[in-house]
Amino acid sequence: SAPLRLGIAGLGTVGVGVVKIIQQHAELLEMRSGREITITAVSARSKDKDRGVDLSGYDWEDDAVALAKRDDVDVFVELMGGSEGTAKDATEAALAAGKDVVTANKALLALHGQALAEAAEAKGHVIRFEAAVAGGIPVVKALTEGLAGNTITRVMGVMNGTCNYILTRMESAGLPYDEVFAEADALGYLEADPNLDVGGIDAGHKLALLSSIAYGTQVNFDGVELEGIGSITIEDIHQAADMGFRIKLLGVAQMSGRGLEQRMTPCLVPASSPLGQLEGGTNMVLLEGDSVGQIVLRGAGAGEGPTASAVMSDIMDIARGIRVSTFSLPAKALKQVQAARGTAA
Ligand code: NAP
Ligand code: HSE
Repeated sequence: SAPLRLGIAGLGTVGVGVVKIIQQHAELLEMRSGREITITAVSARSKDKDRGVDLSGYDWEDDAVALAKRDDVDVFVELMGGSEGTAKDATEAALAAGKDVVTANKALLALHGQALAEAAEAKGHVIRFEAAVAGGIPVVKALTEGLAGNTITRVMGVMNGTCNYILTRMESAGLPYDEVFAEADALGYLEADPNLDVGGIDAGHKLALLSSIAYGTQVNFDGVELEGIGSITIEDIHQAADMGFRIKLLGVAQMSGRGLEQRMTPCLVPASSPLGQLEGGTNMVLLEGDSVGQIVLRGAGAGEGPTASAVMSDIMDIARGIRVSTFSLPAKALKQVQAARGTAA
């Protein structure tokens, strides 16, 4: 088959990770997908920055929107971040131009996912976002494929590596907030605006995306009850530990008599439980289905390699011709089902 040609916008932590995988595992990727995966062009803000990878074989585009529309690009890979501005404009341009899109951008999807999914569907294309939730953990795939035969009864977990890193390192190393925050930054965990992390917003975005997939509802970030870790003190952490608990920024999404409940708030969890033992930038997602019971997924929720790994899983699906929309039903059908059930957001 013809090569799958990528245009990658954003060459930061995640973008560079994706370029490295494509360069280092070219043969493996081709063997597994049946197609050569090539990079046609790349874009970032600064052309001259040394990014530690050889970009000389790719066209450079100053304008990510122009990159998104190029005729010689099959898949637009959006790794710039931000819910508005260039990331949104370029994603919309790519979908309008009939490209598939792969993104790690939970902020964009939590706020505009429905419209983007509809735009993709209108052109018979897909927008995929495995990397947007829980970094390297294939949780989107677990929900859409592995648990496709289940009614999902609960989605729960720790979905922000920065917050988990801060909470656990402050406790275990006795380090002050500022020092731990700088460590998380060095590990590539932080959002461009770190308030998204510590304010719980980033984790709330992820929960809203998982809820939408799990329950077949429209993405409803406004419906997430949200509280960050900003007010948690080292004394709170030690008091919790004295009682056998740890503090986690925990997300829970479940259907109740009142409809879909979504909460992302600091919670006490027993120190001896799997969630209580979760250290550092690790994420853990617990999925409950009526047939499967509970499954626990655990792994790196952020950082170059893990997040790039998740981006590659979407690229590989597209290369293999698996172009099913991640949102559980095509958008139009979904709207009809929701209208009938009265569950539309
Ligand atoms: P990052 O390190 O800050 O990199 C962002 C990249 O986008 C940079 O290369 C930047 O260019 C480029 N960029 C920003 N604005 C641009 C514009 N207007 N036009 C062209 N390029 C632009 O961010 P990241 O950590 O890789 O995150 C990228 C995305 O992945 C975000 O949506 C983030 O939420 C998501 N994500 C990140 C992680 C993680 O662990 N880091 C995990 C999961 C999901 P310059 O380099 O020239 O400044
Ligand atoms: N800032 C995010 C985190 C990156 O710390 O989890 C992964 O989405």
